[in-house]
Amino acid sequence: MPETDEFRPENRIGAILVSSRSLDEYRRMFALTDGDLAGRLLDCPGGAAGFTAEVNAAGGTAVACDPVYAHPVEQVRATALESLRRGYAYHQANPDEYVWTYFRDPEHYLRARTGSVELFARDRGAHPENYVEAALPELPFADGQFDLVLSSHLLFSYADRYDREFHLASLRELARVGREVRVFPLVPMGSAENPELAAVRAELAAAGLPTTVRRVGYEFQRGGDTMMTIGGEPPA
Ligand SMILES: C[S@@+](CC[C@H](N)C(=O)[O-])C[C@H]1O[C@@H](n2cnc3c(N)ncnc32)[C@H](O)[C@@H]1O
Repeated sequence: MPETDEFRPENRIGAILVSSRSLDEYRRMFALTDGDLAGRLLDCPGGAAGFTAEVNAAGGTAVACDPVYAHPVEQVRATALESLRRGYAYHQANPDEYVWTYFRDPEHYLRARTGSVELFARDRGAHPENYVEAALPELPFADGQFDLVLSSHLLFSYADRYDREFHLASLRELARVGREVRVFPLVPMGSAENPELAAVRAELAAAGLPTTVRRVGYEFQRGGDTMMTIGGEPPA
């Protein structure tokens, strides 16, 4: 494992991680039902998540997009494994920022996320058409092409490098390509608060895209336990 000194709070995480969450994490982060998973799904950004591989293997229809897919699969796999080591070191240096309920301990985290990287790499090798190179705030998809768009750990997470204008343009674009959009988490890395969220929601509502925010049954980053939805059915 790398030294943890470079992950002291003043240095934060460094380059955006290419992370590798599993379908099980996505189910919990986005409160996904079997009905949700039966629709046409977009994972944006897909990173090295196992989500698309696992959904399609189970007979569903999922596509992932991410600018990192400009690179060959072996390179993305190596970047994702490096991200995993960097994330691990960050957790070690900033233990108060995490809640160890979903993952029992750091070893469990490493094992699960490494498994997703390998699933992703095999699936992208076998089905490259399901992994589209694309970068927010402009996506190469038709209006309403997807029933459900999932966006995890880019918007709001990296608020230190993306401004409100980027967030608004990206959220409008996700809502253009999907009938429903879910975003998780709603807090920046290293913080349990998001001072931008209310303003972003107000501007979306003014643009005809009202949002709802609800708590979900997943928390790893402390304070990151809510999801924002645009469109779709109102929560029960
Ligand atoms: C922390 S990962 C999240 C991946 C996946 N959603 C997950 O939860 O495991 C963030 C991803 O955002 C991607 N990314 C960075 N800038 C982006 C942009 N402008 N549009 C779409 N994706 C972007 C990165 O390449 C990286 O794979």
